[in-house]
Amino acid sequence: MKQDQWWKKSIVYQIYPKSFQDTNNDGIGNLRGIIERLPYLEKLGVTVIWLSPCYQSPMDDGGYDISDYYEIDPIFGSMADMDELIATAKKHGIKLLMDLVINHTSDEHTWFKEALADPKSKYRDYYIFREGKNGQAPNNWRSYFGGSAWEKVPNEANMYYLHAFSRRQPDLNWENAEMREAIIDMINWWLEKGLGGFRIDAILNLKKPKNLYKSYPSDGEDGLAFIGKQILNQPGILDWLHELDNRCFRKYNAFTVSEADVADDALTDYVGPNGVFRTTFDFSYTDIDLPATGEWYLSHKWSVAELKAHINHHQLKAQKIGWGVQYLENHDQPRSINKYIPEADRNDTTKKMLATLFMMLHGTPFIYQGQEIGMENIRMHDMNDYDDIATYEMYNRALLAGQSKSEAFDAMFKRSRDNSRTPMQWNDSKHAGFSTATQTWLKTNPNYKAINVSSQEDNPNSVLGFYKQLIELRKADNVYSDVTIFGQFVPVAYKQEKLIAYKRVLNDKELLILVNFSNEPLITNLDSTFKYTVLDNLSPSELEADKIALKPYQSIILANYN
Ligand code: GLC
Repeated sequence: MKQDQWWKKSIVYQIYPKSFQDTNNDGIGNLRGIIERLPYLEKLGVTVIWLSPCYQSPMDDGGYDISDYYEIDPIFGSMADMDELIATAKKHGIKLLMDLVINHTSDEHTWFKEALADPKSKYRDYYIFREGKNGQAPNNWRSYFGGSAWEKVPNEANMYYLHAFSRRQPDLNWENAEMREAIIDMINWWLEKGLGGFRIDAILNLKKPKNLYKSYPSDGEDGLAFIGKQILNQPGILDWLHELDNRCFRKYNAFTVSEADVADDALTDYVGPNGVFRTTFDFSYTDIDLPATGEWYLSHKWSVAELKAHINHHQLKAQKIGWGVQYLENHDQPRSINKYIPEADRNDTTKKMLATLFMMLHGTPFIYQGQEIGMENIRMHDMNDYDDIATYEMYNRALLAGQSKSEAFDAMFKRSRDNSRTPMQWNDSKHAGFSTATQTWLKTNPNYKAINVSSQEDNPNSVLGFYKQLIELRKADNVYSDVTIFGQFVPVAYKQEKLIAYKRVLNDKELLILVNFSNEPLITNLDSTFKYTVLDNLSPSELEADKIALKPYQSIILANYN
């Protein structure tokens, strides 16, 4: 039976619950806040929410450290609020995706507490414990957040446990069948509530090599070696993922999007017709500013040609194999305007240009909260203003690698995950209308008086107004929706390096997207069949029969029909 792939027509909006809307004045967002804002999301055109974790958690890693999969953390509300959120969202035509974090739990999960309290408990094997070697950790892996991936067990002479992320996020042992059953039960319990599906966290890390006593040549100042190289996408992982898919996701026709940067030759296994997930995130153009090793205190100088090449490559392979998603921002990324556009050129025009470029690509668009109003990175006063655990680890590594404190601090402004985690900017009142608390959990960006929902809501020329128009192009009653959703992506090569151009093609209906990714005007040839302007970030555009003059950072969508 061919199932309805409803997610292809979806507009997804990611909510970071700590920062969306506070209703009980504790300076932290909550589920009731999300319920209150559902009309806003519906008006924007959103049909799916991806909610970053709101399960019970000590919040060592912003909720990606879960201590009880069956509870909502009290800072966010209760399970009754969650049920109400799912039901009310449905009334607004919105489905909910939860974040599924099953590579690790919190060290406060009862399984882990039992494992520590009693080495003979069955829970010991739910995690990855190993004896040390020569008085040291079993191997020299560096965790994703920095420092050894092994933590010494307190009160035991020579015992360590593995954590790919923070030491408070012990990795689960997926070799243990009973543990896997418990996870399957939990996933189905959530699906029974009527979820639309899951965003699946850090999933390629599940399978670890058999021999955990092998060290590797160090690739950093700290004498350690990057863990990702050793544990990502190990042979055998697909068996477990197929089981999850067959026993959970497919049964409910759930949408699954995995955080899995899969190599081209393995992509079919993941997102092909018989793949384990419905789709997966691509990292190539969102991590374009990072060095290959992922150390984000360093940056990679990229070019528009490189960005174009990444987009083309990703789009062509995703549409060939299965279905892609596109995104500019998420809770791990800085704000897109800061990443892609030089400081002097950051304005509404460039924000709209980025929106055009990404929203018109093939695949389901994911918008991260605040992106639709053009929120920007935050200048913190000093390191104490940051909350994110990875920011602290990265700052320390920068110092260890010889950067000065001010260089390292500057790198945090560019790349810290807290840049996108600041409170949502609703209006120009205190804390941007996010909270009436004296202090919010993370500072509100001081630019909220200029950048907020209220000031843009009724203005079609605002960034928000522009996003609404882009979303509108994907709605069923729009004349262009079949092409924006199902049209093939076809790159168009122009000689101008800073012109990114592509078509979306469905039979004889075509859209042409032209993006001048530079601060200089350019003139280019134009196929005269593209007579109709669908959307332009600068108006009016100078369209002639066979050529077009694009202003700096102009982006325009043209059509051969209307
Ligand atoms: C994913 C999440 C990130 C989290 C990590 C560990 O990469 O997106 O926020 O820190 O997994 O769970």
